[in-house]
Amino acid sequence: MSANKSGVVRGETILKEIIERRSIRKYKEKDVSKKDIEQILKAGIYAPSAKNRQPWKYYVYTGGKKDNLLECMESGLIRERDRDKLLPNSQYGLPDAFNTLRIMREAPVLIIIENTNGTSPYVEIDTDGRVTEICDTLSIGASVQNILLTAAELGYGTLWIANTCFAYNELVDFIGIKGQLVGAISLGIANEILAPRPRKDFADVVEFR
Ligand SMILES: Cc1cc2nc3c(=O)[nH]c(=O)nc-3n(C[C@H](O)[C@H](O)[C@H](O)COP(=O)(O)O)c2cc1C
Repeated sequence: MSANKSGVVRGETILKEIIERRSIRKYKEKDVSKKDIEQILKAGIYAPSAKNRQPWKYYVYTGGKKDNLLECMESGLIRERDRDKLLPNSQYGLPDAFNTLRIMREAPVLIIIENTNGTSPYVEIDTDGRVTEICDTLSIGASVQNILLTAAELGYGTLWIANTCFAYNELVDFIGIKGQLVGAISLGIANEILAPRPRKDFADVVEFR
């Protein structure tokens, strides 16, 4: 084992892509082939899932359809800023959401993530429903990570996006989602080289007992 510049220990069991993946917020104007998009998304379906429910569905948007979707997201963000707020206590996050929208416009591909078992986070659910939702959300997280790592392996940059939550109702209606909109992934060729973001110390997050 040896430590790289970021101090991350590179062992034989840690994939290069796990260590080298970055959240990419600048993209080149270069399309991604359908074949590569399919290969990347296929990795997502091999993830483990609670009770093997496989609660994910992915919608791929490119070109004019992506532009239309993001116009819809923009109108949702403007509504959230000016009136009828879904998340009144999270307004500090709105500038970041507008910035994420800019990134989504720049990336050639946008993948929308649905939890097909889920319901809107803006309606109440009971405890059983919450436990199921936690398990399904975790399963989707595993699927998304497979997607990000496969994209990295093929030479693409990605950004995992949750800022769709501010424009939730507008996006769900536009896309025709019947379950829960979990978020999105932007995908394309990176137009930036980034140092790793800091990580908590290993000793602070792992306890041997
Ligand atoms: C569930 C989730 C949601 C995220 N949502 C956003 C987002 O909406 N906009 C954004 O710019 N970054 C978003 N990120 C990226 C994080 O900011 C990023 O992963 C974190 O800062 C660590 O950086 P790294 O991915 O380069 O290691 C999200 C990441 C996760 C896992």
